[in-house]
Amino acid sequence: MNVPTLLSLCFLFLLTISSTSHAQLSKDYYKNSCPNVESIVRTAVERKVQLSIATAPGTLRLFFHDCFVRGCDASVMLFSWNSTAEKDNSDDLSLAGDGFDTVIKAKEAVERVPGCRQKVSCADILALAARDVVRLKGGPSYEVELGRRDGRISTKASVRHQLPHPEFRVKKLKSMFASHGLSLTDLVALSGAHTIGFAHCSFIDKRVYSFKSKTRIDPTLNLQYAKELKRQCPENVDPRIVVGMDPSSPQKFDNEYYKNLQQGKGLFTSDQTLFTDKKARVIVNQFASNNTAFQEAFVNAMTKLGRIGVLTGNRGEIRRNCAFVN
Ligand code: HEM
Ligand SMILES: *[C@@H]1O[C@H](CO)[C@@H](O)[C@H](O)[C@H]1NC(C)=O
Ligand SMILES: *[C@@H]1O[C@H](CO)[C@@H](O)[C@H](O)[C@H]1NC(C)=O
Repeated sequence: MNVPTLLSLCFLFLLTISSTSHAQLSKDYYKNSCPNVESIVRTAVERKVQLSIATAPGTLRLFFHDCFVRGCDASVMLFSWNSTAEKDNSDDLSLAGDGFDTVIKAKEAVERVPGCRQKVSCADILALAARDVVRLKGGPSYEVELGRRDGRISTKASVRHQLPHPEFRVKKLKSMFASHGLSLTDLVALSGAHTIGFAHCSFIDKRVYSFKSKTRIDPTLNLQYAKELKRQCPENVDPRIVVGMDPSSPQKFDNEYYKNLQQGKGLFTSDQTLFTDKKARVIVNQFASNNTAFQEAFVNAMTKLGRIGVLTGNRGEIRRNCAFVN
């Protein structure tokens, strides 16, 4: 082989490894530095799940919001004295405190183990905790890729246009997910996270009281369900009141979410639109009839979600305290 060919081969090789930013994530990343990290985190998460029903959904959603803004680097957890961090953006204000607390508790447990001190990133702890809460609520268990480092930047402005809103439809959702390398199947599978947790009434009041600015109910909404939502969310209700996201099994991580969509019982437009859209509906029907298919697709999509924009190598840092940069 001549020198130019060799050089271009080297170049191609470098191009390949730099374009796959998750190249350095691995399932046994902490094998030598903190071999018990998985059980330390799991124990802390289990304890926290027992304390509050907001723990599991709050932690899962936190992972999603972290990964979609600046990548999975725990930037969503950073605190700012002048309220200019990611979490101060209005799109993040409804994140449950129990989600943050889960990661903080698990991080404290990791830091208490002398050998593990300042070895494990908050970003990885969040990825592990998200996996653990899904399993604890009856969902699939899976191995988590590790090796993310923590970001040092968190700005309110960076959240702009990065997170989906509950009134979005398939077209918009699809392009937002595609911008992170996630497919329509990934979108449908990850939306299944709405099988657990709660939503504030303010996110649905338009659908039941003033759809398209008229005094009427969203026609894609099951009437019986709409009545139930009106009962749980009276007009001008206390903004702290919440409704279960999955009316049939709000505490269980299962495929009821998809069966609900088939009956017009998707809580948000962004949920119901997955059944209105022809291509997405095929996937919804598959997940509704086959829980194994849903679980496999969810695990696959969570793994892809966990690779978005990760910091590896010597980029970022291992935070001492998840709420503050070192
Ligand atoms: C597809 C677009 C999505 C939209 C428009 C959306 C929107 C929302 C909204 C508005 C809430 C209610 C928050 C509240 O009132 O406190 C919520 C809750 C939730 N979301 Fe999503 N979400 C989407 C996708 C996802 C994904 C991909 C995940 C995770 C993989 C997720 C996990 C959750 C969970 C677990 C809750 C319940 C939170 C709690 O109880 O604290 N969502 N979502
Ligand atoms: C907020 O604080 C950060 C860091 O302390 C600083 O860089 C930034 O300029 C401040 N922003 C405003 C609007 O005061
Ligand atoms: C359910 O989905 C799994 C995984 O995709 C597949 O192997 C299985 O054959 C499906 N079961 C049925 C009854 O279609």
